Amino acid sequence: MANKREKIGILCSGRGSNMESIQKAVASGQIKADIAVVIADKPEAKALEKAAAVGIPSVAVDRKAYAEREDFERALIKALDEEGVTLVVLAGFMRLLSPLFVGHYRGRILNIHPSLLPSFGGAHAHRDVLDYGVKVSGCTIHFVDEGMDSGAIILQASVPVLDGDTEDTLAARVLEQEHILYPRAIELYVDGRLEVEGRQVKIK
Ligand code: GAR
Repeated sequence: MANKREKIGILCSGRGSNMESIQKAVASGQIKADIAVVIADKPEAKALEKAAAVGIPSVAVDRKAYAEREDFERALIKALDEEGVTLVVLAGFMRLLSPLFVGHYRGRILNIHPSLLPSFGGAHAHRDVLDYGVKVSGCTIHFVDEGMDSGAIILQASVPVLDGDTEDTLAARVLEQEHILYPRAIELYVDGRLEVEGRQVKIK
């Protein structure tokens, strides 16, 4: 019997361009799964409008409404579980998740980061890349564990860092790759082609 279709919950904090690239890949049939809900940690996140415009249920779980991170995460879990989410996709979600959340969806949370991890983790990857003076950057899709940008790596793509790059020009070059790489990684996950052994992720 065929496996049940995965139900994807996408967490965002802002613009939502990765969410859109994933939605397009679902619509085209590249990703054989359904997007059950898009959740943002701020009501003003553009990602919510974009999701609603294509008919995806979109919900704000406002971080500011909760004094404690665990209470915020319990609300996130409730919203995701209510929609039957089986795979959590962080797409520009700018918050570190605690062991409470990570434990609830262990092995079923993916993240995208706009650098070649383990270099330049954190919230200012492009600025840090330019300050350091490296010649190559890129993006990384990885499983989420309890650390910051530290989970097992699924796919990476590289781009050159050019003389005269600003954070904006570098971010745009990396983003082009993000929009190809994240749908591809989700496709591999959904098709059951990722084999995880510790830090090693093999593609079957
Ligand atoms: C993307 O570049 C993503 O890689 C990055 O935020 C941007 C969100 O853009 N994520 C992180 O920095 C996570 N630490 P989007 O909202 O248009 O997808």
